[in-house]
Amino acid sequence: MTGPNDEGRVTDVAFEAQLTLQRILPRLESVWQSEPDTHLQREFLNRLQRNWPDLFAILLQLYGRRYDFFYHIEQILRTAAQALRDRPEPLQELDQQRINDTTWFQSQELTGGALYVDLFSDNLGRLREHIGYFKDLGLSYLHLMPLFAVRPGDNDGGYAISNYRSVDPRLGTIEDLRLLADDLRKVGISLVLDFVFNHTSEDHDWAKQAQAGVGEYQQFYHIFADRLWPDGYEKNLREIFPTVRRGNFTWHDGMHAWVWTTFNSFQWDLNYRNPAVFRAMAEEMLFIANTGVEVLRLDAVAFIWKQLGTGCENLPEAHLLIQAFNLMTRISAPALAFLSEAIVHPDEVIKYISPKECQISYNPTLMALLWESLATRHVSLLVRTLSHRYKLPAGTAWVNYLRCHDDVGWTFDDADAAAIGINGYDHRRFLNNFYTGQYPGSFARGVPFQHNTVTGDMRISGTLASLAGLEQAIEKDDETLKELAIRRILLLHGITLSIGGIPLIYLGEEWGMLNDYDFVKDPAKAGDTRWVHRPKMKWEFLDDLDDRIRSSAGSIRKRIYRSLQRMIGLRKSMPAFYGAQMELFDPDNEHVLGFVRSHAGSRVVVMANFTEEPCIVSGNHLRTAGLGRFFRDAITSEDLPTSEDLQLEAYQILWLQRI
Ligand code: GLC
Ligand code: GLC
Repeated sequence: MTGPNDEGRVTDVAFEAQLTLQRILPRLESVWQSEPDTHLQREFLNRLQRNWPDLFAILLQLYGRRYDFFYHIEQILRTAAQALRDRPEPLQELDQQRINDTTWFQSQELTGGALYVDLFSDNLGRLREHIGYFKDLGLSYLHLMPLFAVRPGDNDGGYAISNYRSVDPRLGTIEDLRLLADDLRKVGISLVLDFVFNHTSEDHDWAKQAQAGVGEYQQFYHIFADRLWPDGYEKNLREIFPTVRRGNFTWHDGMHAWVWTTFNSFQWDLNYRNPAVFRAMAEEMLFIANTGVEVLRLDAVAFIWKQLGTGCENLPEAHLLIQAFNLMTRISAPALAFLSEAIVHPDEVIKYISPKECQISYNPTLMALLWESLATRHVSLLVRTLSHRYKLPAGTAWVNYLRCHDDVGWTFDDADAAAIGINGYDHRRFLNNFYTGQYPGSFARGVPFQHNTVTGDMRISGTLASLAGLEQAIEKDDETLKELAIRRILLLHGITLSIGGIPLIYLGEEWGMLNDYDFVKDPAKAGDTRWVHRPKMKWEFLDDLDDRIRSSAGSIRKRIYRSLQRMIGLRKSMPAFYGAQMELFDPDNEHVLGFVRSHAGSRVVVMANFTEEPCIVSGNHLRTAGLGRFFRDAITSEDLPTSEDLQLEAYQILWLQRI
């Protein structure tokens, strides 16, 4: 019953969803006519039955007040049908597999790597020849930094996309991408690509049409004739790239208007209040999925919805939109999982993580606090934070990383810090001083990124090795410092490989690559210090693995590579590292992090010393945490009885299994 005349208002969403579906389905028949596939069409209908009520409810909430709502949802469903129609058969098989195994990414057998195609191997064709390299290191997840067509000149490392359907010609073609994805899949490596959906480049066809005055495409962006609206919004907005430009809007001479540009001035934010934008981007997303991508990194998720009077980050509608994209994949590409890139306050990071939204998320808080603990030699803020922020909803996973192509930002919670007597503002200043090498005694060689002279805010660029002290140690040619730096590097990897989640190695780390200051020579890069930690792969490093060749730098690289490779291998063989069940325990030493991993009856105790001094932990603590009397450290194969105190060497990490 619908009650009295309600003038078209929806009182029963589920009912309207069914009715709408009945109306639209006959209109989609044409999609299936050219090449009938009754099996696939039936599959489409099944998945629609399961997912349409939720998708309809979200679309209704976001766009239901528009007079042309019905037109847009028909287009959206047409997009879903067409994408499934176009889905290559091997991917349809993968879809079935993953429908039955939705948490495949929780396996301890997964370890990820990320790289820039041009810096690693020049192009996609050559990358295919290096699949053995990933296998050798033990990777089974490969994130290629954005490789689609971009604007000329500065393109923000590929994040200023001018066409989501063609690969940057310098890197290859869409066909090369498909072949690579096939080859990777055959050897059990999942391909990960970005979905840069908050903005397009100013030279994307939609932006060009907007510039040419086509009203339909002007509605794809946030374009304002004068400062009235921009000034209104500015009152509550942060500045993400304050050294690029003050404020979030860029004046466009041709249009004689202001354009919303959260990041660089050539990256135009899309206007998701327009359902045509949702449909258009869903089409691009499913196109990318159909090349063979298994995990899609949702770039800059926090920024996709704007609302006057708010900071325009992490708004409820942003979550609804991601859920809607997720539902589109459930229908047309269910093998796909989403990875959220929300480098924001930990209270907000967690809100993106759910099987219905992003199944996987970067863990920027762990990343920042591992660096924090290295600088302070104390694990208290890390422990405090992990104690109530590590646990995730069922069916999801963290990506744990130490460095990525972006900067390090100190996104811990000020209240967590205050609870243990740390002032967040002062502490961030200390960390920035420490990691730019200004703090007396600092081992780090980082570079400031986006220093905001008004707020004092700053983030840090630098490679893992340079931040961990290797650059300074090599400069000083000091063997002790080199040893400590190597141990710091392995300590951090030892944690991301064991704490629960997908460890992600930013390639170059396996060799301890140092900062590359040459980026300043390239005018398209000089203004962005993140290029300091985006060095080119040096294939000659592979010679370092050859025992007959010896050099001091070579032996450091060999040690880092072999140690990391070994830990990745060990991780795979340790069932306790499956999933993310992680229990902290107190080793009663402020420098030592202690946690227990357990799964299916197997148990590993991890202890990590964050100082250059040896640390003592009582054997009794190990006995009670590990529920045993004798343990073996998987990393050194050393046996440890709990009848005596344990000594952890400088920066040592132990993976202890009961024997
Ligand atoms: C993401 C990317 C970053 C880029 C920004 C704008 O944060 O990681 O590299 O600058 O989005 O696309
Ligand atoms: C984006 C930027 C990153 C910045 C963050 C702030 O992810 O790439 O540099 O720290 O936004 O929200």
